Amino acid sequence: MPETPSIAPGSPQCERKLTAAVQIDIKQRTDLMDEYIAKYSSGLSKVPSRPSAKTPEDTVTVLLTGSTGHLGTDILAILLADVKVHKVYTLNRRSSEGPTSERHHGKFKSKQLDTKLLKSRKLMSLDGDTSLANLGLDTSSYEELRDSVTVIIHNAWPMNLSRSLSFFEPNLRGLRNLIDMALSSPRALNIRFLFSSTYYAAQSWNSNNGLVPEDLLTDPCIGVGTGYGESKYVAEQILSRSGLESSSLRFCQLCGRSTDGGWPSFQWLPIMVKTSFEMGAFPVIAGLISWIPLDTAAKCTVDIVLSDSLLPLALNLSHPRPSKWDILEKAVPMPKVSFSEWVSMLESRAAQASSDELQRTPVFKLLGAIFLQLALDSNAMFAAGRQDVDELPGRLLSNEKAQAVSQTLRELQRLSPREGRRWVEYWKTVGFIAPGLDIQSRL
Ligand SMILES: NC(=O)c1ccc[n+]([C@@H]2O[C@H](COP(=O)([O-])OP(=O)(O)OC[C@H]3O[C@@H](n4cnc5c(N)ncnc54)[C@H](OP(=O)(O)O)[C@@H]3O)[C@@H](O)[C@H]2O)c1
Repeated sequence: MPETPSIAPGSPQCERKLTAAVQIDIKQRTDLMDEYIAKYSSGLSKVPSRPSAKTPEDTVTVLLTGSTGHLGTDILAILLADVKVHKVYTLNRRSSEGPTSERHHGKFKSKQLDTKLLKSRKLMSLDGDTSLANLGLDTSSYEELRDSVTVIIHNAWPMNLSRSLSFFEPNLRGLRNLIDMALSSPRALNIRFLFSSTYYAAQSWNSNNGLVPEDLLTDPCIGVGTGYGESKYVAEQILSRSGLESSSLRFCQLCGRSTDGGWPSFQWLPIMVKTSFEMGAFPVIAGLISWIPLDTAAKCTVDIVLSDSLLPLALNLSHPRPSKWDILEKAVPMPKVSFSEWVSMLESRAAQASSDELQRTPVFKLLGAIFLQLALDSNAMFAAGRQDVDELPGRLLSNEKAQAVSQTLRELQRLSPREGRRWVEYWKTVGFIAPGLDIQSRL
C-alpha cells in the first residue's frame, strides 16, 4: 500500500532512509509532533482517568463530525436507520455549496441511500467550527450537545497528503475542543469518543517488529512521513491522554462501496487506474491488499459505537482476509508492465508536460509522492521473493481486537475480481474513465 515517505526498518534510533523520492528531516518533524502533543494535551492529566468499566447509558446519542464526507455519509445513514440510536447530531463546517441538510441530501442521492432517513426527527444538523470556542455554536446548541451526547465520532479531517503537519493545527485544536466539551459533560465518564484515524498514523512502522499493534503507538518516528499521517499520530496521542473512553479507529485504505463500487475518483488508486487506461499499461504490483469497502467501514464504525465492551485506545480496521493485486489486473484488461516500467512511462509523460500541466494534473503530483515509493517497495518485495501478507513493508495492521468488537469486520468476505470490475465500472459510469478505450492497441 502506498504511503509516503517512509522510514527504513530497523530503526529504534530513527535512522534516516533517503529514497530518490523524498528526503525528510526526522528530528525537525518529530519535534513538531511532540510540540503539538504537549500543546493540545496540556491540562488533560488533571481529569479523571479512563473508566475501568462501562456503565450502559439508557440512550445512545451520537455526535458525528464530517457527515458530509464519503465515510461520514454512510455512517450517518446507518445511525439513522438503527433503532438503538436515539438521536444523531451532525456537526459540519459551513460550505458555499449550501446548507448541510442540502449537502446530506445530495450525498445520499448520489449513493442511492434512502433520503427519507434525513427527515427523521432523530437528526439534528449543526453547522459550526470545531476549532473555535463552543465549537462555533450558539450557547444553547453547545450546551444541549454537551449535556446529551453519549458517543462522539470525530470523523472530519482534511484528506490532504501534500500538506505539512502545521496545516492540520486547526484540526488538532478542534479535537481538543471536542475533548473539552466531553470532559465538561455531566456524562463525561460514560462518553465514548471515537476518532477516525488511519494506517498513516503508523506510516513509518518498522515491519521487522511485526504487525502494527492495536494499541497506542509510542514513538513519533512511527508516525513521521506525510503531514496528514503525522497529524493523525498526534491526534491519537492527544485523545489517549483525555481520560475519556476513547479509541482511534485506524482505517486501512477504504475502497469502493460494496453496493455500487463507488470510490471517490480523486484518490490515488482511481488516478492510477485511469492513467493506466490512458497509457495502455497496468503495473504488476507485489504484495497483498487489505482494503475495506467504504460502506463496510461505516458499518464497522457503528458496530464499535454500539459495542458493550470497553474499547482499547486503538483499533485497526483492515481486511481480515487480504487479497492479491490481481483483483484489479483482471478489471483492467491491458498489457502488464513492471511497476518501475510503469513509473518510467509516467515520467516520460511528465517530462513532456508543461509546468502548468504538472501543477494541475493529479497523477503527476502523485508521481514522486506515492507511485515512486510504491514501485520501490514492490521491486524490493519481488527481489526478495516475498509477496505474502506478512512481507509487506510495515503496512500491515493486526486487527484481532477490531474483529472482536465488529461482527461486520469479522465476517467480511475476501475482495475478488468482481469488486475490481465494479470499481472500474463505477469510474466509467461517472465519466472518470472514458468507456470503450482501445487499450490493447495503445502500447
Ligand atoms: N477514505 C479513506 O480511504 C480513509 C482511510 C483512512 C482514514 N480515513 C479517515 O476517515 C475520515 C473520513 O474520510 P472520507 O474518506 O470520508 O473523507 P472526505 O470524503 O474527504 O470527508 C471529509 C469530511 O471532513 C470534513 N472536513 C475536511 N476538512 C475539514 C476541515 N478543515 N474542517 C472541518 N471539516 C473538514 C469534510 O467536510 P466538507 O464536506 O465540507 O469538505 C467532510 O465532511 C477522515 O478522518 C479520514 O482521515 C479515510
